[in-house]
Amino acid sequence: MTLSESDQTTTRETAHPGPDHLVLSEHPVFRRFWYAACFTGAVTEGPVQRTVLGQELVIWRPVPGGPVSVARNRCAHRDAPLSMGWVKDCHLVCPYHGWEWDAQGSTQRIPQFPTAPHPTKSGLTMVRAQERHGMVWVCLAGDDEGGPVAGIPDVPQFSDPAWRIVPELEWHFDCTAMHLVENNVDPGHVAFVHRNTFGNPDTPELGETTVERTPFGLRTHQEVPVKSRPGEVGATVRSTVSEVHLPFSMNLHITYPDGLQHVMLKAITPVDDVSCTILQVVLRTDSEADRPAAEIVAFDDEVEQEDADLLNRLPPAFPLAPRLNAHAKADRNSLLLRRMYTELVTGRWLPG
Ligand code: FES
Ligand SMILES: [Fe+2]
Repeated sequence: MTLSESDQTTTRETAHPGPDHLVLSEHPVFRRFWYAACFTGAVTEGPVQRTVLGQELVIWRPVPGGPVSVARNRCAHRDAPLSMGWVKDCHLVCPYHGWEWDAQGSTQRIPQFPTAPHPTKSGLTMVRAQERHGMVWVCLAGDDEGGPVAGIPDVPQFSDPAWRIVPELEWHFDCTAMHLVENNVDPGHVAFVHRNTFGNPDTPELGETTVERTPFGLRTHQEVPVKSRPGEVGATVRSTVSEVHLPFSMNLHITYPDGLQHVMLKAITPVDDVSCTILQVVLRTDSEADRPAAEIVAFDDEVEQEDADLLNRLPPAFPLAPRLNAHAKADRNSLLLRRMYTELVTGRWLPG
């Protein structure tokens, strides 16, 4: 479906069929999606801690080079954070009294009483995890909550040798995950927020925005004139097809006039109701000799900081009701996004 002008008018005039603002913790459905908790390379030495939807997690690798395990970051004995522990003989060891668990979270050893039966409830509360695209993905919903709704977004370029992979960084934002997604489908901000990197405030005019619903979320296309691209000088045009895999994963496919293609996987993860992270990987059709990976990462580091400087100052609640803001033509992306979040939290739509 493509949004028309009349759709926007209708959206403004009809009663909004959901909450005015979206607060993630009020809607268990968000637990049923996969989120990138960290890069796989972050879990090498010992257990690490991450927070997803307000839930503190411990992520560890029981066997070096083997798959990761993920559990709630609280020991059942006296609530110690397991991420302060270590891995010994394939077991995760609690830093407080040394209890040990295997990769599946079942108790293997209580050092003070090694021959006694293990207390009931001494095992870990495990969380579903998968490694994909160089990231550790987690889904908090257990089987009793219905498990995952949709899969981890596919990025076919990862397995295509014509594309090189440039792993980037994990950035933290003091704004909601929805604000960060909305920013990434907002072509109008580029000229201004990114005026010191690739945006050009002298050419802010935008052409037509096309946006359509997909089974997984939405897809939008936009041509944006820019001052430069990573590590280069010289005006060009970014033709970008952006896909949002609801709720928060994004895949941007940028084509430049000289044929260079640049894909950005933006895995946005809600840390809690008011903050989020983005883990980003770039895939390109050029070579390291054409444009060194370090320059691409440094450029995007500046760009993300520019967004964070602005987004971190927005109000903490994400508005869903159209009447709460003014909307211009290019905001049809954002209006559709807000409509889909409304459908998601009112049970009228699920991806897939
Ligand atoms: S708190 Fe973990 S073993 Fe005691
Ligand atoms: Fe931006």
